[in-house]
Amino acid sequence: MESEAHNPPIQAASSLLFSPIRYGAAVARARTWVPAMVPWRASEEGFVTPEILDWYGRLADGQPGVIVVEATGIRDVPSGPLLRIGADRFVPGLRSLVERVRERSAGRTRLFIQLIDFLAIRRRPERQKYLECFLIIRDAHRAALERLRPELRGRLAEDSGVRSALQELSEDELRQVLSEREREDLERGYRERVTDTHLAHIADLPRVLPGLFADAAVRARTAGFDGAELHYAHAYTLASFLSKLNTRADGYGSTPEGRVRLPLEVLRATQARAGRDWTIGCRMLGDEVIEGGSRLEDACHAAVALSRAGIDFISVSKGGKFEDARAPKVGEAIYPYTGPSGLECMPTAKLDERGPHGRNLHLSRGIREALRAERLSTPVGGAGGIDRFELAESALRGGACDFVAAARQSLADPDWWRKIELGRENEVRRCLFTNYCEGLDQKHKQVTCQLWDRDFTQADPHSDNIARSSDAKRRLVPPPWRRHQP
Ligand SMILES: Cc1cc2nc3c(=O)[nH]c(=O)nc-3n(C[C@H](O)[C@H](O)[C@H](O)COP(=O)(O)O)c2cc1C
Ligand code: SF4
Repeated sequence: MESEAHNPPIQAASSLLFSPIRYGAAVARARTWVPAMVPWRASEEGFVTPEILDWYGRLADGQPGVIVVEATGIRDVPSGPLLRIGADRFVPGLRSLVERVRERSAGRTRLFIQLIDFLAIRRRPERQKYLECFLIIRDAHRAALERLRPELRGRLAEDSGVRSALQELSEDELRQVLSEREREDLERGYRERVTDTHLAHIADLPRVLPGLFADAAVRARTAGFDGAELHYAHAYTLASFLSKLNTRADGYGSTPEGRVRLPLEVLRATQARAGRDWTIGCRMLGDEVIEGGSRLEDACHAAVALSRAGIDFISVSKGGKFEDARAPKVGEAIYPYTGPSGLECMPTAKLDERGPHGRNLHLSRGIREALRAERLSTPVGGAGGIDRFELAESALRGGACDFVAAARQSLADPDWWRKIELGRENEVRRCLFTNYCEGLDQKHKQVTCQLWDRDFTQADPHSDNIARSSDAKRRLVPPPWRRHQP
């Protein structure tokens, strides 16, 4: 590696950003993080591929203190090209990922893996198909039809008659007949909620999830990871348990204690199985930014409970919910980063006059202060629009967080951490916060950055050897750091 690594410039040497930090059993040499980002490079069966190895190897070139591997499914069920850890057969591939990161970071990056559970969603159906096949006919539909169209009364005895009568209604009439949930299933696609306790597998989640997460963590430890990040953020199962919208009446919802109960049970089961000498943290929301959802004070309550239970770090995110997401087109599935809360999760340059830079740091600050007020020292991380040394360093010095996570900036230029550390920040390829990458993520296409593509088209003498996306148009890994002369 570069000899400068042992003799960093004054700015980095005296910074908090490049000072060590402990996350439970793991010590990172710097407070720099690449948080979880799904690049859509796993195989259809959820295995690590050569493209995944190249992706994480390239991120490791920048030698951040921590890389968190993308959201990885804990169940042994088909999930498309999402990385999986729900069975032992996934361990050898994950071990090669760990080895790649160790090698490319010269052992300077700690590697965690984000463990995720999510509930079923279905694509938005065509109206005709929904009414013919999916809608469960109820007497309330008959009553509403009789009220709206008395002439149809004679046709409503059989379900098939109700279905054909519904087909004849205008959009407006149909909306009056369907319940709110049915309208949503039709207009946004069916989506399970943690409050659907009439479904046995949803009622059973508190019984099933601790074991699934714990097994996944044991596999991650066997594969050589330094720790796991439990995904308690965004639109996924455990975030929905933490949400103020969780009205479950079985002791796992409705009150602050009830909402945090399952996340705590998952944490304890994972700690017990994977061992307390192995790092287990979580990602959670500082604010759901949806109507009726959890706000900072709710997040603080949950964070204090998790910290008391010995969680090793809390990485704070914001928004990214289904509730306010844009209705998908017919045949597509709803995506949780398309509404206002999604934009707060991955803020763009055009969002408003405040822009993306450090936009969400008040949330990590609020959670950190709540912990410190209780004499809890769990490290707290902040993310959102962080793209330069000064911003990162002032966030740390000002008490907004203990570590700094930069997703899109690290995607635009994975070497950016090294560049700052070596005093070459002027060579950083700056993220434009356009969310071109996020657009690809939404379509489950291989994620790339618009800035690499520009490099790619500038006749590169080695372009024949450059791995390309499946549409052959885009470079799959960021271009190398071609150093300017000092
Ligand atoms: C392509 C892409 C994929 C992402 N995947 C995940 C993920 O798997 N898990 C997660 O917690 N956050 C995910 N995020 C959110 C980022 O970790 C981060 O919180 C967000 O982009 C804001 O940080 P930034 O402004 O530094 O990009 C993803 C973001 C992007 C752009
Ligand atoms: S595509 Fe745009 S938002 Fe994404 S990393 Fe590149 S510059 Fe940043």
